[in-house]
Amino acid sequence: MSNTNILIKKMFDAIAPRYDFLNRSLSLGQDIYWRRIMAASIGGASNLLDVACGTGDVAFEIAKRYNNRIEIYGTDFSEEMLRIAKKKGSVKDCNNLFFVAADALLLPFADNRFDAVTIAFGIRNIEDKKRALKEFIRVLKRDGSVLILELTAPENRFLMELYMLYFKKILPVVGGLFSKNFQAYRYLPDSVMKFPKSSEFVKIMEQSGFKKIKVKRLSLGAATLFIGYKG
Ligand SMILES: C[S@@+](CC[C@H](N)C(=O)[O-])C[C@H]1O[C@@H](n2cnc3c(N)ncnc32)[C@H](O)[C@@H]1O
Repeated sequence: MSNTNILIKKMFDAIAPRYDFLNRSLSLGQDIYWRRIMAASIGGASNLLDVACGTGDVAFEIAKRYNNRIEIYGTDFSEEMLRIAKKKGSVKDCNNLFFVAADALLLPFADNRFDAVTIAFGIRNIEDKKRALKEFIRVLKRDGSVLILELTAPENRFLMELYMLYFKKILPVVGGLFSKNFQAYRYLPDSVMKFPKSSEFVKIMEQSGFKKIKVKRLSLGAATLFIGYKG
């Protein structure tokens, strides 16, 4: 694992206990709505891999929405995030959901294994995005889909200024105080700012082999859902 990855993993291990609370409050509850949209956008799938699953909220949302009919694997390299996922009350109602520790760049699954791969708020933390996307293609079946949900900066100038004020001034202080990890909540806005523009990210997806890419802007562009298919 690269030094950057070791630092990112350590950071998520450290904030894991406060992660859900801070997610809900700092996104003003929008994260729940964004994950619901992603879950609703999955076409027919009998099995699915949720990469960088964190505390499992995407996986639980999908399991609930499709009444456990989809076999779901949630993977993350942070054992602390996974420990919290496995302790959640909803885990007992999800008999077709399995959590496995894994790096997104080296998924422990056979080629052509899944109908869909999801990743929410995870791809921006991965430096080598093309390598990760190619790994998703490897584990996807032919015509399988990838759904990538990510925080994005609004393109409208006025909204962008409000967003920057919130992201640069308010969020790092509130996040830092509650998680007691100021570095993690300085890293969050920086990682969102560094994330490529939607049109550039679509190109990265195409270069990695995805086809028929669709882009859905959510909450005035504060988050974006990218959907692509393995041809
Ligand atoms: C912001 S959290 C998102 C968690 C979850 N998907 C959600 O919707 O709340 C990002 C997650 O990505 C994981 N992560 C970052 N880089 C990773 C990598 N290379 N391999 C596996 N997990 C990774 C972190 O451990 C963390 O749990």
